[in-house]
Amino acid sequence: MKVGYIQTSPFFGDKKRNFKEIEKLTAKLRADLIVLPELFATGYTFISKKEAESLSEGLDGQTAQFLKDLSKKASATIVGGFIEKDKDKIFNSAMIISGSELLGVYRKLHLYYKEKLWFVPGDKPLKIYEINGIKIGIMICFDWFFPETARTLTLLGADIIAHPANLVLPYCQKAIITRCLENRVYAVTANRIGRETRGEDNFKFTGESQITSYDGKVLSSAPSDKASIDLVEIDIEKVRDKKLNEFNDIIYDRRKDYYLS
Ligand code: ACM
Repeated sequence: MKVGYIQTSPFFGDKKRNFKEIEKLTAKLRADLIVLPELFATGYTFISKKEAESLSEGLDGQTAQFLKDLSKKASATIVGGFIEKDKDKIFNSAMIISGSELLGVYRKLHLYYKEKLWFVPGDKPLKIYEINGIKIGIMICFDWFFPETARTLTLLGADIIAHPANLVLPYCQKAIITRCLENRVYAVTANRIGRETRGEDNFKFTGESQITSYDGKVLSSAPSDKASIDLVEIDIEKVRDKKLNEFNDIIYDRRKDYYLS
């Protein structure tokens, strides 16, 4: 199975231009799973809730349409971030699209910094999407900081974690190696690059999108300063065996009676 990321440098608030940039990068793309960054169409650093609301969409908005077209063109399952509007609430969400159909939406559970001023925290359980026998889980950016997220996706059966991100801290690319090792799953972290100076905030996004293997190997790492795209071939059968050796199974060996929840 071929999986990959698209690493972009979004123009704040300019969805059409951001879609065009991705179209240029993906002209000849063919894959099984492609992950795009968190909020890839809008940018990240809002100065008010009103501004974030003005860029939000329902499930039939322009971002859903763009991702459906991309899914068709690349014959791929696509996961990408957007601002989801649901009645009077907005969420930092990611949609999963396959065969030009919207399969579902994940709402970020762990909001970072001022995201707490703009968005409502995710209110839906973590979920696995099974496509052609491959089990895909989704988490968004700062969710990685909470090991329970990747562990829950693993316990639900995830083979691979699609991880749209707008990383501003320097830890994830190393830490996700541990998340993958301790759960024996693959992860595709699609990050963004560039800087956004808006209001009082000045964020430099770290790039280095990464495909990480269940055994801790980094299979692909993007530059920190260039829009890019990469695909790797992975063997999903490997993650279905949770044994490290003939004595240790990382799921069965857990001592749940001794842990706090
Ligand atoms: C982040 O969660 N976008 C830092």
